[in-house]
Amino acid sequence: MIRSVVRGFGAALPKRVVTNRELEETVDTSDEWIVQRTGIRQRYIAGEGETTASLGAEAARKALDNAGLTIADIDLIICATSTPDNTFPATAVNIQNRLGMHHGFAFDMQAVCSGFVYAVSTADLHIRCGMARRVLVIGAETFSRILDWTDRTTCVLFGDGAGALVLEALEGEGTNADRGVLSSHLRSDGTHKEKLYVDGGPSTTGTVGHLRMEGREVFKHAVGMITDVIEAAFTATGTTADDIDWLVPHQANRRIIDGSAKKLGIPLEKVVVTVDLHGNTSAASIPLALSVAAADGRIKKGDLVMLEAMGGGFTWGAVLLRW
Ligand code: UT7
Repeated sequence: MIRSVVRGFGAALPKRVVTNRELEETVDTSDEWIVQRTGIRQRYIAGEGETTASLGAEAARKALDNAGLTIADIDLIICATSTPDNTFPATAVNIQNRLGMHHGFAFDMQAVCSGFVYAVSTADLHIRCGMARRVLVIGAETFSRILDWTDRTTCVLFGDGAGALVLEALEGEGTNADRGVLSSHLRSDGTHKEKLYVDGGPSTTGTVGHLRMEGREVFKHAVGMITDVIEAAFTATGTTADDIDWLVPHQANRRIIDGSAKKLGIPLEKVVVTVDLHGNTSAASIPLALSVAAADGRIKKGDLVMLEAMGGGFTWGAVLLRW
């Protein structure tokens, strides 16, 4: 059986760090409120010349280096983003060009904060169907560019960045002992579309728009939706919380992360948390967290890793993989 196995990882962050204290100077907020309600201490904000495609390309280059591959080895690029450089062409095609890749194909995945989970699942399908042997899966965002900086209920929460994985086709036995993606579970429900959305777009206002969120409403649904897809992955694979080496959640809010882990019976020592460093970077948050934990030696080859995310739409999903 063909499995989609992680061969390399990489991350990229803008140069500028903005702390909660710095935000206090321009927004009616406090470090105490932000830390207590979200766990966020700082975020990175893109400056001039830093875009979703430039950050995505930098993360992709690092993932290729880490994998010991060159762009000639890649067949497909999938970029999960809700903050593309342009309405079209796809940011993935922009990144393809920046990397000097003129073969294969590239496309974007739009599932907001669940984008990276959707992208890994889609890459896995392309690999297992034989359409691609090696895929660069990127999550890249510049949410700072769609924030309403006068709205304290949203602007303190998000940050910019990018992360990438190289997934490669390898023969497995078809058991849970295989390395690679073992199970993916994707969900969406548009009845919640007005709880977290951008109030502009090419076909409605002709503008880019700003992020709007009913935070409390999103919070109310988050833990239930996250645990639902993780339990689906456990059921599909016959695994339990005890088998998990690392839970790598979407990094929106420390309280949601802790609540989900507690409900699932996963001890907090097995949860990778980077929301304090990066804020919520939407589709980039999981590959950024994976890169931090793989680089510092926490996630090791053979570890069982659960990825999960929930976001605008609502969309939500989980991927169980062996690193
Ligand atoms: O990534 C996609 C998924 N998104 C999420 O997962 C976000 C989910 N939601 C959340 O994480 C939380 O709901 C928030 C962090 C957004 C808000 O936390 P909360 O505990 O739900 O706070 P709240 O919205 O109930 O607001 C509590 C109070 C309000 O004041 P009153 O009405 O009680 O007087 C707000 O006006 O906190 C006030 N507030 C702030 N105060 C200082 C809201 N934003 C701020 C702020 N600084 N930045």
